[in-house]
Amino acid sequence: MRILGLETSCDDTGVAVYDTERGLLAHRLYSQVALHLDYGGVVPELASRDHIRKLLPLIRAVLNEAGVAGEELDGIAYTAGPGLAGALLVGAAVGSSLATAWNIPAVGVHHMEGHLLSPMLEPDPPAFPFTALLVSGGHTLLANIESIGRYTLLGESVDDAVGEAFDKVAKLLGLGYPGGPAIEQAALKGTHGRFHFPRPMTDRPGLDFSFSGLKTAVVVALKERALNSQTVADVALAFEEAAVETLAIKCQRALETTQHERLVVAGGVSANKKLRARLVQLADRENIKVYFPRPAFATDNGAMIAYVGALRLKAGQRQGSAFGARPRWRIEELPAV
Ligand code: KG4
Ligand code: ZN
Repeated sequence: MRILGLETSCDDTGVAVYDTERGLLAHRLYSQVALHLDYGGVVPELASRDHIRKLLPLIRAVLNEAGVAGEELDGIAYTAGPGLAGALLVGAAVGSSLATAWNIPAVGVHHMEGHLLSPMLEPDPPAFPFTALLVSGGHTLLANIESIGRYTLLGESVDDAVGEAFDKVAKLLGLGYPGGPAIEQAALKGTHGRFHFPRPMTDRPGLDFSFSGLKTAVVVALKERALNSQTVADVALAFEEAAVETLAIKCQRALETTQHERLVVAGGVSANKKLRARLVQLADRENIKVYFPRPAFATDNGAMIAYVGALRLKAGQRQGSAFGARPRWRIEELPAV
């Protein structure tokens, strides 16, 4: 079964072809970072228009590279939500139209399920059940993953997502967007111990997160202080350490609850090298195994959408004649496979 995957939920246009026998045949990503740079963040209307411009040429290029004609596909998967409404609608409209033209089924995929299952594209994929930490620009959640579509939420952020906190702190430090990679880079020159930020909500039981207070702690630390490059690096390092440590503490607590032997970490923030190193250390100590997507598939991409689409289409799930976007969509609402 060969499935075309389309990702347009935010500021990346991602396209891929996944073959259930042969694996990933081709994938490409067009990033809108340069387009939104002047505004310090994603401008939804500009994002939608750019997806319209880039999606069809990217599909052509990926089909070409995969050596597959549109009519030879067995289905199309597009990100139906959660995400920016206008941006999602581009993928939904293009995916559904091509599926009608080529007389193949289409399916709307949940973006966070894409992230969740992205490590399945790697050579040594995790077996079920496992505990998952999903960390992106819009979500921070821990979940008990029993099998495809059987997800129980263990905890989530009550305010900002951790990626959002990286982006906001980067803005405060004048590092631009997207904030995660910029903070990671700046922190390399940071001095340990000059700043110390709280590990929010780790001093009480539970698996929920809160990251807006961490951002406020950075605002307070920067008050009446000259923003020279050393201070930027020192704050970036202390913030990164606080965010990573908070996530690690909650992962350990979640694993104590689920008693799972496998931890999956995915989503944009899972590209962070300190987070990966800290969770590998935790896994070694606890004698469990931790799984990540390759760094290029930690952030948004079409491959994870094609993969999830293949699983769900193979199970007979598909959309009817109507299509749409679901800007808000909880992962626990997904049907089991
Ligand atoms: O999954 P993703 O690409 O898009 C969403 O679904 O939101 O995640 C984007 C988020 C952004 O907040 C970005 O700053 C963060 O992931 N991010 C990182 C890193 N790379 C991306 N955060 C920390 N360290 C990184 N290396
Ligand atoms: Zn994402």
